[in-house]
Order: sequence, then C-alpha cells, then structure tokens
Amino acid sequence: MSVTIILGAQWGDEGKGKIVDLLCKDYNIVARCQGGANAGHTIMYNGKKTVLHLIPSGILQDNTICVIGNGVVIDPIALLDEIKMLNDNNISVANRLIISQNAHLILPYHIAMDKAKESAVKSTVIGTTGRGIGPAYTDKVARVGIKVFDILNENTLREKINKNLEEKNKILSAVYGITNSIDEAAIENFINACKTLKPYIADTAYFLNQAINDNKNIMIEGAQGALLDIDFGTYPFVTSSNTTSGGVCTGTSIPPTKITQIIGITKAYCTRVGNGPFPTEQKNEFGQLMAQKGNEFGSTTGRPRRCGWLDLVALKYSLMINGITDIALTKLDVLNDFNEIKVATKYIINGTATDQFPIRSEEIDKVEVEYTSLPGWKKDTTGIRTFEELPIEAQNYIKFIEDFTNVKVSFVSTSPDRNDTIFRN
Ligand code: GDP
Ligand code: IMO
Ligand code: MG
Repeated sequence: MSVTIILGAQWGDEGKGKIVDLLCKDYNIVARCQGGANAGHTIMYNGKKTVLHLIPSGILQDNTICVIGNGVVIDPIALLDEIKMLNDNNISVANRLIISQNAHLILPYHIAMDKAKESAVKSTVIGTTGRGIGPAYTDKVARVGIKVFDILNENTLREKINKNLEEKNKILSAVYGITNSIDEAAIENFINACKTLKPYIADTAYFLNQAINDNKNIMIEGAQGALLDIDFGTYPFVTSSNTTSGGVCTGTSIPPTKITQIIGITKAYCTRVGNGPFPTEQKNEFGQLMAQKGNEFGSTTGRPRRCGWLDLVALKYSLMINGITDIALTKLDVLNDFNEIKVATKYIINGTATDQFPIRSEEIDKVEVEYTSLPGWKKDTTGIRTFEELPIEAQNYIKFIEDFTNVKVSFVSTSPDRNDTIFRN
C-alpha cells in the first residue's frame, strides 16, 4: 500500500500532468482533491497532446481508476465536455471514473459572478481563470452550496438552484449591473448535464479507505501550486482552495497517517499566470527566452505566463509547508541556451536579509532578490534519460538545488514526453 501525493511547488503549471501520467502506471487509483476546471494538466505521449481539467491524469493509463474527490468543485458541463473529448480519442471513462457525492457543484451563476467580479471597476483583479472557482468555494463555506448528491433527486436540485438563483440574480444586477444573465435555458442545460453524471456518483470516502485496507496504491494529483494556496500563498492573488498537502486529507478523506510520499514538482525556473507578486520575474530577454523555449501559455486560458528565475527562497518555503519528500524538476531543457543561470537564494526586505518567504503580498512586492549565478550548459539536454548523460553544468545545477533545499531531486524531466525523464533513485 502506498499513498503518494504529487503537487505543484510553485504557482501552478509545473508539469503535474506529465509526472502523474508517468508515475501512475504502478498505482491502482489516481484522485484529485481540490480545485476544479481552473486546472489544465498536459500529457504528451507518442506526439499526441491531451489537456485535462477535471479528470485525473491517470485516465490515460488503461487500468487506473480515477476519482474526483470531495474537495473538488465540479462544473458538470465542463466535465461532460472532457468525457466527450476523451471518448472522441478512444479513451473510455466508463467504470473508471468515480465522482464524490460530497463534492460541490459549480453552477452557471458562479461563473457569471467570477467574471463580473473580475471586470468590476473597483475590484482587486486577481486574473482568475473565469471558471467560477472562487464563488463556488464561497458558497460552500457560506453553507449554501449545492452538492453532487443533490443531483440524485431532481426536485431537491431544482429547489436549491431556484432558491440560490433568486439571490444571485439580485447581486449580479444590483452590484454588477448584469441583468438576466442566467436564463432558464442555461439552468436546463445545467440540469441535463447533471443527470448524465449520475452513473459516476459514489461515496469516495469509503471507496478510498477500503482501497487502503486492501493494500492498493493511491496517487493524489494536486492542482495549481503551493504559492496559490488560500492560506499559504500570495493572498489575495491565490486560488480558493488548499493546494498544499493538508488539502489532500480534507479533499479526499485519506487520513494523514496513511500518506507515504509527497512529491513536489518545480520547474527549473518559475512561471506565474494571472496577477500577484513574483519576486524573480524577468520582464526582459531572459524571461522572453524562457517563455518562448518553454512555450509558456496557459493550458486553460491560453494567457501568456510570466517567467523568471528559479526562486529557492519560495521553493524552500513550499517544501516546508508541504512536507515534500522528493522533488521532481521539470523543463530543464528550457534552460539549454543560457550562458548564465541565476537562482534566488536570499531576499532583502527593507535593508534586512532573510531566507524566509514573507506572507504579505505587499511585502513580497518590495523584496529585493539576491541571486547566486551558476554557469549554463549551452548544450541540448532535450530527451536525455540518465543523469550521467547531462552536461556537468546541468548536473551541478541540480545538485545546487538539492544542497540548498536538503531535499532529493528524484526526477528530472527533459521534454514534454512521458518517457523523457531521469529517475535518480
Ligand atoms: P500542470 O498544470 O502542472 O500539469 O502543467 P501544464 O500542463 O499546465 O504546463 C506544463 C507544460 O510544460 C505542458 O505544456 C507540458 O507538456 C510541458 N512540459 C512538461 N514537462 C516538460 C519538460 O520537461 N520540458 C518541456 N520542454 N516541456 C515540458
Ligand atoms: P494547474 O493545475 C496556473 C491562477 C489564476 C489566478 C488564480 C486564481 O494547471 O497548475 P482561479 O480561477 O483559481 O480563481 O484563479 O490562480 N490559477 C492557475 N495558475 N495553473 C493553474 O492550474 C491555475 N489555476 C488557477 O491564473 O491567478
Ligand atoms: Mg496547468
């Protein structure tokens, strides 16, 4: 029995899709625990690209059961689109996808509220994905959310929707000046999508804990990244769930005592999509080269990602709050062309040096970064699959990260393809 968590150690898009798809062949179950269709997880296999938003990346391995846990917020329309996309690609989810009856639903009014809030004149613009994530989690905490089990009784579902809709329409109209944005057709479309999901609904708490008792191997696939965590991230420029390892227990029902390994994924540099502090951001030719070589465009919204040097102050914080046991370093190949590679090793705040990541966004904005400079390798590492074949400068870059963080870099990814990965254990 093993329970392995795989999560993003930065601001998301670290390559969770690739690493989960690669490692899960030895696992019986892959489960998502938080987030929703704000996630975009890319898998490249045999030159074919698949992007998943809600369904765990284990779905591409034939025998893996995929679970959408109670901590996820589910947009039934987005989920059906994804199931259809997979079916069109000859990947069947029948008998392999299970949805927690205890998860909350994203309704059309959540999406409308998310977009309205982001475009309101006086808002702090977060740069959300517009998928209704924040408003759905708000309703969950406000105890007016609608859960997956409500799908099982159409009358209850309709009653709850109507009750909420009245209030949401008032808010949309009075606060944001948006009238009649959620019409009857939108609600009927939503209810029809819900009905189609009925066969997938189950009690995943009992399912997962029974699997643990039966000695099965379970992998948990995080969404977003540690620095977007609602508690530990760069608030308010975060997502609305706990993206760190604590969110796994509350988002799946797997107790902390059953977790055996926590793999944190970091790019060999940093990216961020959306607004908020980013101390090592490079708005110059270095950032442009990373963006171009790394093809840094959001998998969900297509927005260009901001790029910068690897931030070891932030990474160390992320390793600490997650209890990460192994690092997976991705996109090493993107740094092939640099003469010099910098990594942040200290912050200076108001003239004082610190190796701690500040919690206040206002403070992070003021950080002066102290970098350590390492020689680039200026050789093609694309597709390399053994550590020894890497140029010595690339090996030293990886060892520097290990020495600084005291955590083993157990996996190194050298291309988007599933197989282009170095295993170091
Ligand atoms: P996720 O959200 O963490 O699953 O990451 P995304 O899929 O949003 O973004 C990661 C992007 O990097 C995808 O386009 C991947 O195909 C790609 N990728 C993953 N690993 C590597 C790598 O080692 N090298 C390169 N060049 N691309 C990679
Ligand atoms: P994956 O799983 C990168 C960012 C958004 C925005 C903030 C809040 O692919 O790594 P939200 O829609 O969640 O309310 O937006 O979080 N964000 C992501 N950035 N990767 C993601 O997911 C993200 N999901 C949300 O850009 O800044
Ligand atoms: Mg992504």
